[in-house]
Amino acid sequence: MRVLTAVQCTGKLHLGNIMSAMFPTIKLSEKEDNDVFVFLADMHSLTTIKNAHELSDNTYYAAACWLALGLDPEKITFYRQSRIKGVCDLTWIINCLTPFPMLANAHAFKSKSQKLSDVNVGLFDYPILMAADILLMQGERVPVGKDQKQHIEIARDVANTFNNTFGEVFVLPKEMIDDKIVLLPGTDGQKMSKSYHNTIDVFDSDEQLYKSVMSIKTDSRRPEEPKQPEECIIFNIYKSIACEQDINSLRNKYLSGGMSYKDAKELLYETIRQKFHSARERFNAFKDDLPMLAKVLQCGEEKAQAVADKTLQKIREILPI
Ligand code: TRP
Repeated sequence: MRVLTAVQCTGKLHLGNIMSAMFPTIKLSEKEDNDVFVFLADMHSLTTIKNAHELSDNTYYAAACWLALGLDPEKITFYRQSRIKGVCDLTWIINCLTPFPMLANAHAFKSKSQKLSDVNVGLFDYPILMAADILLMQGERVPVGKDQKQHIEIARDVANTFNNTFGEVFVLPKEMIDDKIVLLPGTDGQKMSKSYHNTIDVFDSDEQLYKSVMSIKTDSRRPEEPKQPEECIIFNIYKSIACEQDINSLRNKYLSGGMSYKDAKELLYETIRQKFHSARERFNAFKDDLPMLAKVLQCGEEKAQAVADKTLQKIREILPI
């Protein structure tokens, strides 16, 4: 089964991205019958980033993160969206089959379109570029967060419209949303997200990582007082990365009192450092090795292009443009 997903290249990939999207995708590639495609959605990033160096740095940064976390390019077809010929062609074809209100009413667009003069057409068309990404590669399952569900529904809808209008070309994609994955809280308790400036970035320096962990908000309970683990941001982040036994041990310490929030933060910091020790070492070795990163991506691009070419050929057989 073809499983396909992507991340945008708009900045750092934080602990929330890693636990809810990147690790689960890498895990899927360990199953024999999954053929996993992961790409860096640099053309989607262009809807918000207007600086060429920033875009390029972000793309290589994301590539280094994925590889450091264990993406095996032999198992996963790993590539840059912008390098695949045919994505934009298909975007246009789908544009011409999509009713305007379908995009105008999409949640993600609506929430950003209070002032239309601030919005570019790319942002409006974002779901169609996404549909082209998926359909060109004949993606069947698309692991995404809940916020992307509607985009995958749009991709399925337009695939259906194309198949009905011109003839069967596309597999109908379906979102894969893991309900077990709880959204990680950020340092302020809201969902961990770059736009809230509340992330923990495991590939930061030790000093920066320590600073982020120490900035987690807590209540004013004193060290000796019992504390409510499930209400505490530190505990909730810890829960997503520690093993069962360690989670239970911290829970008991919270409930019985005597554990300060400072100690809990120190424990979380050390746990992150241990869990990501080898990934961080790999990241530091990879991040500046642009020739290596470019080569890995290029290999993936060749594999992905071969799949894209097959789909394009099918399209051209029934739609003479
Ligand atoms: N919109 C996705 C996000 O922000 C990234 C993305 C682009 C994507 N194209 C895709 C995800 C195709 C899945 C499939 O997270």
